[in-house]
Amino acid sequence: TKGGYPHYMLKEIMEQPDSIFNSMRGRLLYEEGISKLGGLQGYEDRIVRSQRIIISACGTSWHAGLVGEYMLEEYAGIPVEVEYASEFRYRHPIIRPEDTVIFISQSGETADTLASLKEAKKKGALCLGVCNVVGSSIARESNAGVYIHAGPEIGVASTKAFTSQLVVLSLITLLLARKKNLSLIEGQNIIREMQSLPEKVKKILESNDQIEKIADEYMSCRNFLYLGRGYNFPVALEGALKLKEISYIHAEGYPAAEMKHGPIALIDENMPVVFIATKDAVYDKVISNIEEVKARKGRILAIVNEDDDYIEKLVDHVIRVPKTINMLQPILSVIPLQLLAYHVAVKRGLNVDQPRNLAKSVTVE
Ligand code: M6R
Repeated sequence: TKGGYPHYMLKEIMEQPDSIFNSMRGRLLYEEGISKLGGLQGYEDRIVRSQRIIISACGTSWHAGLVGEYMLEEYAGIPVEVEYASEFRYRHPIIRPEDTVIFISQSGETADTLASLKEAKKKGALCLGVCNVVGSSIARESNAGVYIHAGPEIGVASTKAFTSQLVVLSLITLLLARKKNLSLIEGQNIIREMQSLPEKVKKILESNDQIEKIADEYMSCRNFLYLGRGYNFPVALEGALKLKEISYIHAEGYPAAEMKHGPIALIDENMPVVFIATKDAVYDKVISNIEEVKARKGRILAIVNEDDDYIEKLVDHVIRVPKTINMLQPILSVIPLQLLAYHVAVKRGLNVDQPRNLAKSVTVE
């Protein structure tokens, strides 16, 4: 069942070339530079015309939603808000019939997400589910939706579901963008980049041994900071959550530039900082943030692109990931962080598949 791996979590991390492929299988139409999502058929025009998209989710699925916000606003030009389902359901959110609300949930059973769906439906919004478990409550209650087809995820820490959620959000973005302003050429470019993801993920997974060695150096730290900007900001949050939940080490994710508004006070030679610093629109800004941490003697581990020969001179460790377009980079940059959390937890002798106090699906509020 664990496919020869010691833990489901490692198996699920290693499966990502396939799970990512399965999430887009049969859904990309290269000639037309667009995606085809059977589960949204009949609703496309209503989604394209929506005044606003709201994304409601919890935990890792909420992090996927944050990446979705950046994608949809950049390419589809529709205003997006991302909400914690638990807050959304109890405050008095303004939900209008012209809104589309996307509910992201691996299990499709998360109590808060399901309750927020019922609320949005009552207010007349178009409700879309992005779920992994077929026939789950959220999938059944929503008006339409897209399955992520990641295959069963057993480890409590969500890994392959996250990358597949990002693939599906990219597919939705491509669909809407092409129905709005995106050119054929740009659509085809996104498709080519998506199709090359499984090979790129395989390459990252080859760094597993290197990451395991790096984990030795960090396993005894008591706090971590994860920093990223732009599309990599939600990746920082996700990397920190992975470490917290399975290694019980305190970790916080921040948008890198927020550091100087508080967290920088924590930095000294005992504070490891993980930077997600791939070459995107905000690369130079992230370099200045790295220099700020360096000046205060912080220990730095950086996730960088393969051709980056600058950052390694500044930091203690680098892990390399292939380059892709900014929108898709989180799918690659999160993988070393999943492996890092996994190895740190194993080295600390913890039960990575079933961390204390946590359940795979949170069906109570
Ligand atoms: O099944 P869901 O995607 O709705 O679950 C949401 C969260 O409970 C889940 O992502 C949780 O944060 C994971 N343990 C993270 O690894």
